Amino acid sequence: MAEQVKTIGVLTSGGDAPGMNAAIRAVVRTAIAKGLKVKGIERGYMGLLNEDIKDMQTRDVSDIIQKGGTVLGTARCPEFVEPEVQQKAADICKKHGIDGLVVIGGDGSYRGAQALARLGINAIGLPGTIDLDISCTDYTIGFDTAINTAMEAIDKVRDTSSSHERCSIIEVMGRNAGYIALWCGIANGAEDILLPEKYDYDEQAIINNIIEKRKMGKKHHIIINAEGIGHSNSMAKRIEAATGVETRATILGHMQRGGSPTCKDRYYASIMGAYAVTLLQQGKTKRVVAYKNGEFTDFDIEEALAMQKELPEFSLEVSKLLSR
Ligand code: ADP
Ligand code: F6P
Repeated sequence: MAEQVKTIGVLTSGGDAPGMNAAIRAVVRTAIAKGLKVKGIERGYMGLLNEDIKDMQTRDVSDIIQKGGTVLGTARCPEFVEPEVQQKAADICKKHGIDGLVVIGGDGSYRGAQALARLGINAIGLPGTIDLDISCTDYTIGFDTAINTAMEAIDKVRDTSSSHERCSIIEVMGRNAGYIALWCGIANGAEDILLPEKYDYDEQAIINNIIEKRKMGKKHHIIINAEGIGHSNSMAKRIEAATGVETRATILGHMQRGGSPTCKDRYYASIMGAYAVTLLQQGKTKRVVAYKNGEFTDFDIEEALAMQKELPEFSLEVSKLLSR
């Protein structure tokens, strides 16, 4: 029988995401309620290697559920791909009595957790990224807040775009994934949505669409461009030259990662944090917590990383139907 986990470490890794604090709070409070010790690891794997590790008590996570970012800090730690660096990190966990670890981050962070699990540290991943680009789960911590933040910003750009009868290209985050672009594209009633998964570099089709929509009486033309395609400024210049319609580019950038988490992000992150502790208590390791088909569930990390995710085709069709 697997030995009972006694001390849980928790860290946030990769890009921060609103709701990470709710997850940290849930890990800390659930673990303490179940008689376990908790250690907070600052700045992700970087902080683990530097032994930036502190004991955490119930009161240490007071007043954080409503805050954006992560109170533990986060970092990217490229050297964590090296086996000797992973071994050093596992040794540090053991030195600090950390026998269970909750890693809140994206796919990259899961690979680090997988490495630590192989080296004997029970590790559980929680999906923390605004990009929604983790295949095994329909929900990631921070996505809901990010799309609401982006949606509100895009509404504002639309006001000025309509007043000036302009075309606006608004670039949203998402790394190589188009989920933020797709959701905002539909929610903001965009005329065009450019998704890395689907983009065929047919700029002439966009130009034709602008001209056609003008003829239909549209006063603005909103193009949501995913970061994975990028080049919004140069695209704006080419579109203006080809259509004669004044065109401006707005890159929303990191504001999409900040701000107070929505109710959904606080709720899901809280459940997932508690779920992770429960898995560790059951002696489970190398698992990731997910929300799939309407239920909280968990998968083996390897299995999760091998899964593929497709953009919902029907949503793409809907976006085209509704932008007429
Ligand atoms: P995310 O977790 O959001 O996908 P990154 O891809 O930047 O963000 O990964 C976060 C961190 O996870 C990296 O800086 C690195 O420390 C660790 N990591 C990424 N890929 C691997 C890997 N193949 N093996 C071990 N650790 C990794
Ligand atoms: O993964 C979250 C994310 O915000 C992506 O959407 C974006 O590509 C990336 O992180 C930006 O990273 P950085 O904060 O290092 O500029």
